[in-house]
Amino acid sequence: MSSVDVPVALLGYGTVGAAVHRLLEESADEIERSTGHRLRVARALVRDTAKERGFAAAAGVLTADFATIRDDPSIAVVAEVMGDVEPAGAYVLELLRAGRPVVTANKQLVARHGAELFEAAAAGGVQLRFEASVCAAIPVIKVLRESLVVTNVHRVLGIVNGTTNFILSEMEAGRSYAEALAEAQRLGYAEGDPTDDVEGIDAAAKMAILATVAFGSRVPLEAVSVEGIRGVTSDLVAAARALDMRVKLIGRATLVDQRVDVRVGPAFVDQRHPLAAVDGAFNAVMLQGDAIREITLEGPGAGGIETASAVVADMVAVVGTIGTGFLQSDPVWRTLEPLPAGELPSPYYLRLQVEDRAGVLARIAHELAAAGVSVARLVQQPGDGHAVLHVVTHETPAGQVAAALDAIRGLPESRGEASALPVVSDRGVEELGWA
Ligand code: NAP
Ligand code: HSE
Repeated sequence: MSSVDVPVALLGYGTVGAAVHRLLEESADEIERSTGHRLRVARALVRDTAKERGFAAAAGVLTADFATIRDDPSIAVVAEVMGDVEPAGAYVLELLRAGRPVVTANKQLVARHGAELFEAAAAGGVQLRFEASVCAAIPVIKVLRESLVVTNVHRVLGIVNGTTNFILSEMEAGRSYAEALAEAQRLGYAEGDPTDDVEGIDAAAKMAILATVAFGSRVPLEAVSVEGIRGVTSDLVAAARALDMRVKLIGRATLVDQRVDVRVGPAFVDQRHPLAAVDGAFNAVMLQGDAIREITLEGPGAGGIETASAVVADMVAVVGTIGTGFLQSDPVWRTLEPLPAGELPSPYYLRLQVEDRAGVLARIAHELAAAGVSVARLVQQPGDGHAVLHVVTHETPAGQVAAALDAIRGLPESRGEASALPVVSDRGVEELGWA
């Protein structure tokens, strides 16, 4: 097979962009062996061409002028690795409409503007690939779109943000939240603005993309219910440990009777569940479907070279399929309704603080029963002048748990905030022991 020189371009030459260039150079022989092509970075867009770079680009490669990329017909594929929705979105649309294939690592862009982007790709007759936008190195989009094409996936559970998983793991080891966040930033896991990570916005974008691909119905970012990790205290981490569980930021996309629910929030994960073993900046996605029962993919969810491996794989896939008629078209083929808030069933952990005297437990039990919440486990600990009740419920629709909590907060015996977190477990809650 004779070698073909393939000029490619990058929009962005930061943590991921420079790593893409490095991987393309270092793996040029492997890529050529398997595809016959040598991908060469001809241009890379940056803001500041004079800035010192981790992996230096040859003279003339860095440019601050997008037009030099847009107007160069020799460029076979462009990787968007600059971040932010604009101007990245406008550049990607221009490229697609002009018939230039694009791969992107930008989850906010794909989650917010997927419909428009795929329309432009279809109009330009080119591919738009976005593997690196979800869980960096883990090839979950390819698995969902290609390997599981005939599997009716009805649930996606994931740890899809490396920064928050790293922070929660470090908090379990005794580090403070602030120390752990600073370390995650130093290691290059966090977004430019780490608010997106700790408030769950980064994870919500990834879950919107995963749900859209898994269910074939567009899930807009605004439809994802989001809670971050700022409210996770060391008390909560300790309560989870006492229940033989770990606190994790969990993304959950569920199909119930052809209606969709997608949410991100802290949850108690049973130690024996595969997601409980996911430590540090690693991510994992569990796919549950009719024919496969379940498949869990785990791997690095952040980091320059890790993300670059997915970007490069997408670039190689584009170059390898140009001219074959194979298009990565919009994964959306139907429109599903959202599941009404409150109908999603899950077991829950409840933390209640109440006056410690005769009859109070009976009042709590009465309110739980009135809302149709069944108790699977209950432990009482002495608090500061009151009692703390740790309750694990049987599977219950979220709305019923919320109603019970509202009623309990209104009791004169209630002391302090009553809260609930979903429990993720493969075992029946009956089997969940107390450590
Ligand atoms: P980064 O280090 O901040 O790099 C951004 C690059 O884009 C820089 O080279 C910057 O130029 C350039 N850039 C930004 N705005 C620009 C503009 N308006 N015009 C021209 N150039 C511009 O970001 P990153 O960590 O590599 O992330 C890139 C993308 O990958 C983001 O969408 C992110 O969400 C995604 N991603 C990152 C990771 C990760 O672990 N880092 C993992 C998965 C996905 P200058 O260098 O001149 O400032
Ligand atoms: N900031 C993201 C994370 C990496 O911590 O998972 C890119 O998706």
